[in-house]
Amino acid sequence: MPDDSAIQAALARAVTIAARGPEHGPNPRVGCVIIAEDGTTLGEGWHRGAGTPHAEVAAIADARSAGRDVRGATAVVTLEPCAHTGRTGPCVDALTQAGVAQVRYAVPDPGDASSGGAAVLNERGIPAVHVPDAGASALTRRWVTAMRLRRPYVIAKWASTLDGRMAAADGTSVWITGDEARDHAHHVRAGVDAIAVGTGTVRADDPRLSARPGGEESAHQPLRAVIGQSETTGAQVWRDANAIALRTRDPHEALAILHAREVRTLVVEGGPTVLSALVREGLVDEVNAYIAPALLGAGPSAIEDLGIGTMSSALRGQDVNFQPLGADILVTAHFSRGL
Ligand SMILES: NC(=O)c1ccc[n+]([C@@H]2O[C@H](COP(=O)([O-])OP(=O)(O)OC[C@H]3O[C@@H](n4cnc5c(N)ncnc54)[C@H](OP(=O)(O)O)[C@@H]3O)[C@@H](O)[C@H]2O)c1
Repeated sequence: MPDDSAIQAALARAVTIAARGPEHGPNPRVGCVIIAEDGTTLGEGWHRGAGTPHAEVAAIADARSAGRDVRGATAVVTLEPCAHTGRTGPCVDALTQAGVAQVRYAVPDPGDASSGGAAVLNERGIPAVHVPDAGASALTRRWVTAMRLRRPYVIAKWASTLDGRMAAADGTSVWITGDEARDHAHHVRAGVDAIAVGTGTVRADDPRLSARPGGEESAHQPLRAVIGQSETTGAQVWRDANAIALRTRDPHEALAILHAREVRTLVVEGGPTVLSALVREGLVDEVNAYIAPALLGAGPSAIEDLGIGTMSSALRGQDVNFQPLGADILVTAHFSRGL
């Protein structure tokens, strides 16, 4: 059997190739490297999106196309192999039929239908063992959250001034930040399944809500979702069918509708009413705050009253990152139990 360092090297490679898969879509990004006893790679593969072969199947095919025999080999996978038939067949069957001797995986599968693959393999006499992460959980974080909580992973995104204002007193918010910050936000949009705003933002700004990284419409365009009970007929968001009206003020209901449409990652881009409602309900997993070195002194703040009266009750994020973007700064923070 390959030693631990060979397993970890294969896992690191599996993480690298998994990242080539699309960030958006109903399935997670997964990589698989099949290694021989001495650690030599026999085949590798990654999942390229819904309906295409899973990473394990792609790795077996890669080995076969190179004329390499995977019988008795070790499959190292970033995610526990699936045990169900979805758009493609179960990976546990593909691994069994290929004659793989053992499996090492980094992230347990929390999916209702897809989990239990390790147990199935173990029952079949193919030891499937959980190994330390090597970066695999960062890759599947959004998907795992969506599967576990049965709602999309929610990124709350806003642009604000140094004094926390999201718009001026007259309601204008175009543009708080500069080109680099806005381009970054377009890259984020291109990697998610849906973008949501409230009806107030549609009326105030009439946003297109398209993903235009580098100024070009990306091939993948997220679903545009508008939350609220009132009509916004004629707004730019309704220019084609890739849009949905979530006619509710209940954030749980809005997320349930999106979950049913296989939205795994959602960016909520405001305004303060909708963002605050999500935060109050503990439904925000990550904040992306683009902060501009500007002061307004008046105007709505990004997050309204949360009923927090004292400092010790402040909601605090983890895994905080700072990224300068031109004159602005992006602060990202994660909230593991939801804000
Ligand atoms: N700087 C930024 O990043 C940024 C981003 C977006 C917007 N903005 C600014 O934000 C301002 C608009 O703010 P906003 O708060 O009116 O916009 P909003 O949050 O987009 O929309 C508010 C509307 O959504 C509906 N709604 C949905 N869920 C609700 C809930 N749980 N509780 C109450 N109402 C709910 C209500 O309308 P219904 O009657 O339809 O139910 C409500 O009036 C504009 O000035 C805009 O420029 C700034």
